[in-house]
Amino acid sequence: MKCPKCGSWCAEDPTDGYWCQNPRCQHVWHPGPKELMQFTIRKADKRHLSDINRLIVEAKIGSPMEKLDGQYWIAKVGGRVVGSMGATTIDNSTAVLTTLAVEKPYRKRGIGMSLFNHAVNHVRTQGATTIGFITMYYHFRRFKRRGFKTMPRKFLSEPLKSHWMFTAKRYMKCAAMVQTFPSRAT
Ligand SMILES: CC(C)(COP(=O)(O)OP(=O)(O)OC[C@H]1O[C@@H](n2cnc3c(N)ncnc32)[C@H](O)[C@@H]1OP(=O)(O)O)[C@@H](O)C(=O)NCCC(=O)NCCS
Repeated sequence: MKCPKCGSWCAEDPTDGYWCQNPRCQHVWHPGPKELMQFTIRKADKRHLSDINRLIVEAKIGSPMEKLDGQYWIAKVGGRVVGSMGATTIDNSTAVLTTLAVEKPYRKRGIGMSLFNHAVNHVRTQGATTIGFITMYYHFRRFKRRGFKTMPRKFLSEPLKSHWMFTAKRYMKCAAMVQTFPSRAT
C-alpha cells in the first residue's frame, strides 16, 4: 500500500491501518469506511475468560489470565465474542483501563471505542476521577481526541504508579495516558 502523503511504501500497523516507512513521513492512516455491524456490549464473567484470553493473545497485548482481574466487558457480534476491555479500580477515585482488544476482521467499525467509552463511563459512575492506561504511540491521537494526555511515569499519581501495568517491563515501550474528570458524586 502506498502512502497517500509521500507515495512511499506503508507497512500494515497493529491498529488495522497503515504506517508510512519513509522516516521523514511516518504518516499513519486508515483506508475508507467499513460497513457498520450490529454488536452488543455486556459485562463479562468467568465463562468469558477463554474468549478474553484469545483476544488478548491474538492482539499480542498480554498473556492469558488465570482469572478475570477486575471488571471486564465483552462485545458480541451474533454469538461470537469479538472484543473485550477491562478496568480495575485502585482506590475510591482512581481506575486503570486494561487490555482493550478487538478481533482483526471486526476492527474499524466502532466496537473498540464503544468498549472504551463503556468502561470509562462505568468507572466514573463508580467514583473514579482519575483514569489511566498504557498504550502504544500509534494510539495517542485517538485517545488525545478523547481528552487523555500522555504522562511520563514519574509524574503519575501514587495510586497509578503502584499499579503493576505501569511498572511491568513488558509495557515499558508503551506510554501512560491519563485524564482527570470532574466528580460525578452527588
Ligand atoms: C485499538 C483497537 C481496540 C481499536 O478497535 P476498533 O474496533 O478498531 O475501534 P473503533 O472501530 O471503535 O475505532 C477505531 C477507529 O475506527 C474508526 N471507525 C469507526 N467506525 C468506522 C467505520 N465504519 N469505518 C471506518 N472507520 C471507522 C473510528 O472513528 C476510529 O478512528 P480513529 O482511529 O481515528 O479514532 C484495535 O485496533 C485493537 O484491538 N488493536 C490491537 C490491540 C491494541 O493495540 N490494544 C491497545 C489499545 S490501548
